[in-house]
Amino acid sequence: MQGSEDVLSESAVPPGAAGSVDVTGTVRVFGPASLSNLGPGFDAIGLCITGIGDVVEARLDAAPGVRIEAIEGDGGVLPTDPACNTAAVAAQTVLDALRVEQGLVLRICKQMPNGSGIGSSAASAVAGAWAANVALGRPLDKEDLVQAVLSGEQIASGARHGDNVLPALFGGLVLVSASDPSRYRRVRLPKALPIALVLPEVRVFTKAARDMLPAQVPLRDAVHNAGELAFLVDAFHCGDWETVGRCIMQDRLVEPVRATLVPCYDAVRAAAMDAGALGCALTGSGPALFALAETAAAAEQIVEAMVDACGRTGFAARGIVTSVDPDGVRVV
Ligand code: HSE
Repeated sequence: MQGSEDVLSESAVPPGAAGSVDVTGTVRVFGPASLSNLGPGFDAIGLCITGIGDVVEARLDAAPGVRIEAIEGDGGVLPTDPACNTAAVAAQTVLDALRVEQGLVLRICKQMPNGSGIGSSAASAVAGAWAANVALGRPLDKEDLVQAVLSGEQIASGARHGDNVLPALFGGLVLVSASDPSRYRRVRLPKALPIALVLPEVRVFTKAARDMLPAQVPLRDAVHNAGELAFLVDAFHCGDWETVGRCIMQDRLVEPVRATLVPCYDAVRAAAMDAGALGCALTGSGPALFALAETAAAAEQIVEAMVDACGRTGFAARGIVTSVDPDGVRVV
């Protein structure tokens, strides 16, 4: 149900093309980070971003199944049991779908923190699935990997939400049904969107941050969110970043609950707006916050103000100026 006619630049490379596999038979794949929820769109909308993500290397093996040879950059916290690892589960789902007898050996290079709100598990899942596909000669298209990446995400967060994995897979902005994530639509953005992103040194784990949400919400708040999400999607279509900025600050269902997990939330939002941001919100389950800017130069100033605000509230933070990655997962 994907609706965009965007060209996936890497998909144009034919199977087995030079550059996908090195002399050792290893493929190296980059899975990008993503922003999700974007204010009122809990589990329903996400955006792939540039400059940060995970790398998964894969090579075929005679023994069936997926084996993890090493995980780097995770501080030793991620599971090496393939049944519990998001990249391995996604890769295994690809092997199962293709009914291949060969197995796969993975090396996972984490280049983004876990529990940060920018789709760390999703980046690994899409990289694992695409690496498996490329190692096998690229028999599948990205559209064929949706179930595999959702399975990878489910291992990490306990739910098959598609608002990180689908943007990380396809690139750009993706709308997805929360109740049936196989229904999704890609949205072409008409112009560049500068983004200031701050990663405070606080960990918020998605599963816990989902478990804390109320099972029921007031109808008036649900209706408010529905209206704001409608305006948000239209504004994305039109490139009306001022309205996008206003809408991302309008969530009444989820963000107010989760903000309690992020001690610097109010200070960072205020600092971003004082520095000229068009809007500022949590991404995913946090603690990362992103702000939208008119220009890349403005985003530099905004991110500095956000990092300073974290520091004043006693939290170290990393600031990044980023933008929309239109391509999603790819061989590197
Ligand atoms: N939509 C998901 C959530 C994203 O907010 O729980 C998790 O990164």
